[in-house]
Amino acid sequence: MNDAMSFGIHRLWKQQFISKLDPGRRPGGRPLDFLDVAGGTGDIAFGILDHASRMHGDYESKITVTDINADMLEEGKRRSLSTKYANSDRLEFLVQNAEKLEQIEDESKDMYTVAFGIRNFTDIPAALRTAHRVLRPGGVFACLEFSKVDNVILNTIYKQYSFNVIPIMGQLIAADYDSYQYLVESIEKFPSQEEFAAMIKDAGFQVPEPAYENLTFGVAAIHLGVKI
Ligand SMILES: C[S@@+](CC[C@H](N)C(=O)[O-])C[C@H]1O[C@@H](n2cnc3c(N)ncnc32)[C@H](O)[C@@H]1O
Repeated sequence: MNDAMSFGIHRLWKQQFISKLDPGRRPGGRPLDFLDVAGGTGDIAFGILDHASRMHGDYESKITVTDINADMLEEGKRRSLSTKYANSDRLEFLVQNAEKLEQIEDESKDMYTVAFGIRNFTDIPAALRTAHRVLRPGGVFACLEFSKVDNVILNTIYKQYSFNVIPIMGQLIAADYDSYQYLVESIEKFPSQEEFAAMIKDAGFQVPEPAYENLTFGVAAIHLGVKI
């Protein structure tokens, strides 16, 4: 459904997200601890480890993938078996609510990623405070999420497509109208780029300038925050 709805563009967004973060151990540095939250499918986690080895010759940094939904994590684990990280100690899966991350120690991670997940959290400010808690000083919070289209005409077309087409595609492809209706509504409810940047700041992060990068006219956006 993700491929059908976004015409495959979500894969390019994820690639752009990872390239922008440029994850990997730097010369003379120690291996890094990555955390991918709401990471069910493992897409981002595998991409981060691939990038670290390809671009930085980093074969040691580790990633923990967390998700509130054990079935989603099972799917991620299953998919990991067809990657070079199958059963590797560089990849760990944990069922965790992003609002608490009870099994993740304070100041234990160098990078926190969340892709198309935070929109679904019940208490987003609590999740952002938790992200701040688990990151080491200098650690980076990075979010890829659906956002607001920055052009009036394109926004009108996008809204028509979202509200009138996506739920029907959900019904036809996944036999699930309601979940895709929820998806469209949750995107609509999610704060604007500026509002979300302010929420990241409120959680204690320093937000770089510019505060976000729009992808495909703002259909999605990347936000960053640094723990000082
Ligand atoms: C659209 S999927 C995104 C999966 C993955 N990050 C990707 O981009 O392919 C959203 C995920 O958010 C998870 N999720 C929702 N609420 C959560 C919470 N409070 N804590 C952790 N994960 C949550 C869901 O279980 C689901 O796996």
